[in-house]
Amino acid sequence: MVEWTQQERSIITGIFSNLDYEEIGAKALSRCLIVYPWTQRYFGAYGDLSTNEAIKSNPKIAAHGVKVLHGLDRAVKNMDNIKAAYAELSVLHSEKLHVDPDNFKIFSDCLTIVVAAKLGDAFNADTQSAFQKFLSVVVSALGRQYH
Ligand code: HEM
Repeated sequence: MVEWTQQERSIITGIFSNLDYEEIGAKALSRCLIVYPWTQRYFGAYGDLSTNEAIKSNPKIAAHGVKVLHGLDRAVKNMDNIKAAYAELSVLHSEKLHVDPDNFKIFSDCLTIVVAAKLGDAFNADTQSAFQKFLSVVVSALGRQYH
């Protein structure tokens, strides 16, 4: 089981309680599709992804980015049992959506960059350390049901 210090817990809850889900969700997912274009293959039904501008202004991408961030709420609320909290979502991404699990790490890197840019100086080494630890536990939990 993953252990969390009180400081890590308060950093994680602090980030999520102040997060602008609409802004950060849209920016993180669109960044992922622009920087790692192969991730676009999963969003073929989302309309125009033909240019970076089209991706950034695509309302379905923005809405899905918000949904993914709300998916992270599950981990924030269940920090002591993230694995169980993602059992179902892991099955969904693996068996139904066939999302390559490497993409979870890619998305989490994009999210880290967007959150860091938003928080500026407040995203110090302690914050980065707690946030990356949190996301790596999420990435591992989402990848659990792949075989
Ligand atoms: C759907 C969470 C990463 C592709 C979803 C849903 C959630 C979610 C909550 C909705 C499930 C439902 O409708 O019941 C997450 C979390 C992620 C993550 C927490 C990582 C931190 C990714 C990545 C990709 C991806 C990296 C692909 C590159 C999809 C697709 C759907 C989906 C294609 C279905 C979309 C639709 O029905 O329109 N995800 N996801 N996810 N996710 Fe993820």
